[in-house]
Amino acid sequence: MADFSNQPTMKGFFAPTRFEADVYDCEVIGKIPAEINGAFVRLGGDWLYPPKYSDDSPFSVDGYISMFRFKNGVVDYKGRWVKTPRFRADLAAHKQLFGKYRNPFTDDPSAPKVDRTVANTTPLAFAGKLFALKEDALPYEIDPRTLETIGPWNFHGKYKSLTFTAHPKIDPVTGEMICYGYEATGLESNDVFLYTIDKTGHVTRELRFKAPYISMVHDIAITPKHVLIPVFGYVTSMERLKEGKVHWGWDGKAPAYVGVVPRDGEAKDIRWFQAPARATVHTLNARDEGSKVILEAPTYDSNPFPFFPSVDGTPWDPQRGRAYIRRYTFDLNSKDDGAREETLFSMNVSDLGRIDDRYTSLPYRYAYTGFNDRNRPFDESRAGNLSLRVNNSYGRFDLATGKMNRYFAGDTHSLQEVCFVPRRKNAPEGDGYLIGVASNFAEMRSELVIADAQRLEEGDVARVILPFRATSQVHGRWVNEDELPFA
Ligand SMILES: [Fe+2]
Repeated sequence: MADFSNQPTMKGFFAPTRFEADVYDCEVIGKIPAEINGAFVRLGGDWLYPPKYSDDSPFSVDGYISMFRFKNGVVDYKGRWVKTPRFRADLAAHKQLFGKYRNPFTDDPSAPKVDRTVANTTPLAFAGKLFALKEDALPYEIDPRTLETIGPWNFHGKYKSLTFTAHPKIDPVTGEMICYGYEATGLESNDVFLYTIDKTGHVTRELRFKAPYISMVHDIAITPKHVLIPVFGYVTSMERLKEGKVHWGWDGKAPAYVGVVPRDGEAKDIRWFQAPARATVHTLNARDEGSKVILEAPTYDSNPFPFFPSVDGTPWDPQRGRAYIRRYTFDLNSKDDGAREETLFSMNVSDLGRIDDRYTSLPYRYAYTGFNDRNRPFDESRAGNLSLRVNNSYGRFDLATGKMNRYFAGDTHSLQEVCFVPRRKNAPEGDGYLIGVASNFAEMRSELVIADAQRLEEGDVARVILPFRATSQVHGRWVNEDELPFA
């Protein structure tokens, strides 16, 4: 039996929803742009049973995939749990059998030895298939018609890492996917396997190497010639796990690196630049400029996540757990293994930053992300005491001019990760829509907002109203009509 009564953080808007959903012809305020057809697919989590340990990471929440399906100006919504072996084992036992994030030593003795992933981080459409991704396991294939779970996928048997990533990169020129797994040969192994997969889903290249130390490699960036691999701050060990701790601890003294890997090179060609001691959980984009490789990313000053505490007992610092859009330059002609850092915008932002994905690896101009605009009102009498926690705005950050345009979601709202949808396939960079789900705390419901990316100050062109709280998203992707066999 599920009992959430002892979960003080899972109340009100943040209580588990615990149902699967189909909403046909959703209520819409405004007008859905008829030119965008496809789906906004979201992956996040909803607890089937409460976590076994109160100090576990929210990364352990059961995966839940949802989809706003756009067709000729009409939107349907569908939501399903990702039914991993772990989910099915819990359901059969009527309780949470699995312990802390990536620590099998904390599992219930009766837990079966199955894949412990909850597949809750990023949806991916690739080679005609839909996947639910999390970095501790292989991709889980999802039926795009029903959102039911099919099972793990290993790219025709040629993908040998035991883990995948929540942030593979698709090269828009070649159609190839650059992807990887860390802890690739098992828990607490320092092996990274880096893959190139062609657009039909077949592995064409594998590179095996070791990271400077075992750390969270959550995201990478690519250029036409290089793969950039950030390693920072989080440490782990088998001893930690046997002591019953969560997988990661923060070590403020651990150096941060960015590995620059030639896409056609060998493991010996990797150069590890020592970057400033930031936390690079997510990247925006990268490019080559002569001998220089340039990375732009919203990097944190220190530990982003309070649920992965410092190894030396230092309390989490919310001031330093903030992200700023920064640029890093690595010079391959220099003997210096350092990096030049520039902070491009003085305001702190959500690190769930996005670009127009058609420009991955290419010169680009705009980054998009959410932030808290304190100059905007927040109605605490209707929405509760959350004003400091909300991302009430999306910004379009112009990297060429340093200007920022902003969209405001409302005085009882908080926005989840933004996503850019091109107006047409061949539309110029930035010509399209920003979409994302807003939590309306006053109405206890979720609203999908759609704003013209070039007219953000004018507000949204449409809002899709759900008559309930949708499960929260980690990452979402826009998938065009022709990318998947939708229903
Ligand atoms: Fe992520």
